[in-house]
Amino acid sequence: MKELSLHILDIMQNSIVAGADRISLTLVEDSHADLLSFRIEDNGKGMPKEMVQSVMNPFVTGRTTRRVGLGIPLLKAAAELTGGGISLSSREGEGTVIEARFGLSHIDRQPLGDMAGTMLGILTSYEDIVFIYTHRVDEQEYTLNTQEMRDILGDVSFSQPEVMLWLSEYLNENETALYQK
Ligand SMILES: Nc1ncnc2c1ncn2[C@@H]1O[C@H](COP(=O)(O)OP(=O)(O)OP(=O)(O)O)[C@@H](O)[C@H]1O
Ligand SMILES: [Mg+2]
Repeated sequence: MKELSLHILDIMQNSIVAGADRISLTLVEDSHADLLSFRIEDNGKGMPKEMVQSVMNPFVTGRTTRRVGLGIPLLKAAAELTGGGISLSSREGEGTVIEARFGLSHIDRQPLGDMAGTMLGILTSYEDIVFIYTHRVDEQEYTLNTQEMRDILGDVSFSQPEVMLWLSEYLNENETALYQK
């Protein structure tokens, strides 16, 4: 994958497949700590212990029992390439938390990519899921909570053109503002 936003999308898709109806994404760029990290937490069906291990180490478990996907191993490899790593914790029936850490200024760190577009796409595709997205860049941050949007919009779809346009502008303006000192 070329961009971190695609890894983020991939990991959020796992939460959706796991039946989550609440997904939070916290993305932090901390230049003092030279760290880029994100944490995705869901209330989906979770994973049993053995599975958490096999997902983290897909090549160790062998391929006789089940197909092991590539989303998590690819994220792990990308993070480790920059001196970072990932951690995964999950409880069956409760949910999953995955955190990835990257060396912010490391030459091999993939660019973040289009977070506004990524969030817009997922929010409008899965309107029944509550997304809580926070992006922090050093001292500046903003949060979008789709529950608050839903409370205001009632039955109006997020993919109504006017709503999409507003959302797109909101996300793009806030993303841009994060990088203005
Ligand atoms: N948030 C989650 N909740 C519950 N199970 C999960 C979650 N994330 C991953 N898993 C389990 O771990 C498996 C491996 O995830 P991974 O993203 O590495 O591959 P995949 O989603 O199966 O395939 P791919 O991402 O390559 O399309 C998933 O198939 C799923 O069973
Ligand atoms: Mg996946």
